[in-house]
Amino acid sequence: MSKKIIVVCDHIHQDGLDILEADNKIELINAADEPKDKLVSEIIPLADVAITRSSTDVDDAFLSSAKKITAVVRAGVGVDNVDIAGSSKQGIVIMNVPTANTIAAVELTMAHMLSCVRTFPYAHNNLKIDRVWRRQDWYGTELKDKKLGVIGFGNIGSRVGIRAKAFEMDVLAYDPYIDSSKATDVDVKYTKNFEDILVCDIITIHTPKNSETIGMIGKEEISKMKDGVILINCARGGLYSEEALLEGLTNGKIAMAGIDVFDKEPAIDHPFLDLDNVTVTPHLGANTKESQKNIAIQAAENAIAAAKGIAYPNALNLPIKENELPDFVRPYLELIQKIGHLSAQVTKSAVKSIKVMSSGPVADHLASMSTFATVGVLTESVGDQINYVNAEFVAEERGIKVSTEVKPNNSGFTNKVCLKLTTTEGTISIAGTVFDDNVQRIIEIDDYTLDVEPKGTMIFFRNTDTPGVIGDVGRIIAENGLNISDFRLGRDTKQQALAVVRVDGKVSKKILDELSSLDAFINVSHASI
Ligand code: 3PG
Repeated sequence: MSKKIIVVCDHIHQDGLDILEADNKIELINAADEPKDKLVSEIIPLADVAITRSSTDVDDAFLSSAKKITAVVRAGVGVDNVDIAGSSKQGIVIMNVPTANTIAAVELTMAHMLSCVRTFPYAHNNLKIDRVWRRQDWYGTELKDKKLGVIGFGNIGSRVGIRAKAFEMDVLAYDPYIDSSKATDVDVKYTKNFEDILVCDIITIHTPKNSETIGMIGKEEISKMKDGVILINCARGGLYSEEALLEGLTNGKIAMAGIDVFDKEPAIDHPFLDLDNVTVTPHLGANTKESQKNIAIQAAENAIAAAKGIAYPNALNLPIKENELPDFVRPYLELIQKIGHLSAQVTKSAVKSIKVMSSGPVADHLASMSTFATVGVLTESVGDQINYVNAEFVAEERGIKVSTEVKPNNSGFTNKVCLKLTTTEGTISIAGTVFDDNVQRIIEIDDYTLDVEPKGTMIFFRNTDTPGVIGDVGRIIAENGLNISDFRLGRDTKQQALAVVRVDGKVSKKILDELSSLDAFINVSHASI
């Protein structure tokens, strides 16, 4: 059998390269130093498997050159620059190495926090580069007794919280997707109110990057912060609006920011670099010897397993080639995953159980549907680390009960799928089907019957069924500059109605506040898929 070719696209630790070199069934091409255009046009066409980091985009150009590739291993966590849907269509498995760099990211966050309070890089440069000994210029503040707001209390955020406690900080966690005991068990306070975070002395963010978290801190949020607040971002560029951050750093509202990640990388001409109140690093979150060694070893072993077709550890997608599933099933799998993702965003609280129900011939694929539904639900809280392989395990680890049920086919639809999500705050049931035109539709939300395509950004507004509400909802959305692309209404038997409004753009807190102030208001939520 001819050797399988593994192309290493970015720099990885030598221990990973050694593993690849030592395998006599593998030919290693180390292309980390090659220009990216040459990598894509000349080297990727040779590859059976590729190993990448954030410097190599798995985009249209990459995928159209990837003639033989069966798997791409992201040697790290983030897959923002990987076209997972496009890869799936080509039958390429995307795998990542999710937890090996946790400690590296945690410790870098602490380093930025300490650098900010002691203006460390500026004092350092003043002595070392300018040769100036002016102790009176470098008075910092202490972490002790300062209030630290941690947005996202998962793998990384919770460890930052624990370390901050060792510095005697008063730590407050905001994460609607965890049980509060995850914070209180480590002596960290917990809040469900985002406003509580905004009044902390130091704020650090550790969420995945998704439609809900992009721009999570913008002008409005910064205006509510304390004068002299310190902001840290060692997670993903774009979670804080860079424009708002720049304004706050320039007008003195924000005392210091510690930034490891940028909207566009490499960020060598970024305006932050001209400011004297920002500590910056070039995306070093995973750059420790320990983390890079572990990541490279796992990436190499997983790439070899994939090249030999033995296993696909931490697969983030389940590439389904058209001919391997009955044609009608795939849109149902995608639909139930979207329904799962929507339900988690709408309920925004710790999940207790996921129940997937189905009727019609598609019910033969209930086990796969349960996996896709679980991935959809957990994407909201777990982000890049959830995949079709670990979904069941992660659900079990979080105490989430996953079950399925075949339902009698009496709905009038050939096939119907339904997900019932139970959280600490209540339950939601969303059902859908796929019409002949292959378009997915949501047909029921709780007791409401409707017909809406699950797509883009959606607002769900529940109200008492009184005249004029549709006009008021439409007016508020339009007055806030959002274009409505679809407006659907469902009614139940209790004199209540549900409007599902698809909009082009981001739903601001102002819109939600204005909708909440309508007399007929019962509740409002929004989601993006
Ligand atoms: C990650 O997503 O794993 C980190 O952001 C590190 O990215 P890198 O592998 O490109 O350093």
